[in-house]
Amino acid sequence: MEEKKKIAIAIDGPAAAGKSTVATRVAEILGFTYIDTGAMYRAFTYAVIKKGLDPTNEQQSCLVIPEVDITLTPDHRVFCNGEDVSEVIRTPLVSSQVSYIASYKDIRIALVKLQQKMAEKDSVVMDGRDIGTNVLPNAEVKIYLLADFNTRVMRRFEENIGKKLEVPYGDVAYELFLRDRIDSTRDFAPLKAAPDSIYIYSTPSSKIEDVVEAILEKVHQKTGMEIPCH
Ligand code: DC
Repeated sequence: MEEKKKIAIAIDGPAAAGKSTVATRVAEILGFTYIDTGAMYRAFTYAVIKKGLDPTNEQQSCLVIPEVDITLTPDHRVFCNGEDVSEVIRTPLVSSQVSYIASYKDIRIALVKLQQKMAEKDSVVMDGRDIGTNVLPNAEVKIYLLADFNTRVMRRFEENIGKKLEVPYGDVAYELFLRDRIDSTRDFAPLKAAPDSIYIYSTPSSKIEDVVEAILEKVHQKTGMEIPCH
């Protein structure tokens, strides 16, 4: 039997622009696998911290590469060496260190290989910073999701409250500012829109469903795929 062609949708953009919410919903409607690549960098950061190593030290952090086994499950749990790290990777400690880990070339090469393997197996919606430029340069649809800085800070601040994490607004703003800077100025595969990306700007009044519909329409246009009723 002829194998069905795999379709890839890349969603890139800065932290807290709403990528994962939108990507999860698009994947659900299309029946594709959702891959949160940020969670993989976070899981790696957790592994480095757990070993008592310093995530700001590239040499130390890269030593862990052969020992780290990261898996994402269909119900969106994240495992690192068999441990369910889905919650701990969202804590402020990991969030404040992950951009350093994501700037190390050897760690990126290892995780990108894993991400590309995942996209060979299934049709995917993958979100991150370098999906359209580096991980899946042949993705059928590339979205660059943007939101202004204050909207993003407020979104992250409210997410923390929802998780009962008391992080002052100013601290959330500073952390996002720092992460944006490190993510977009690193030498290797920085945060950047691919030239063939479609830009979507989400505002505080944008509805998730509208952003989702805009993406589904592009998927239909670019691939001819019929969008399932939803
Ligand atoms: O999307 P997120 O906030 O969970 O991402 C965590 C960090 O990982 C963030 O600093 C950017 C980095 N990242 C990356 O460099 N490349 C990706 N493909 C995904 C995330």
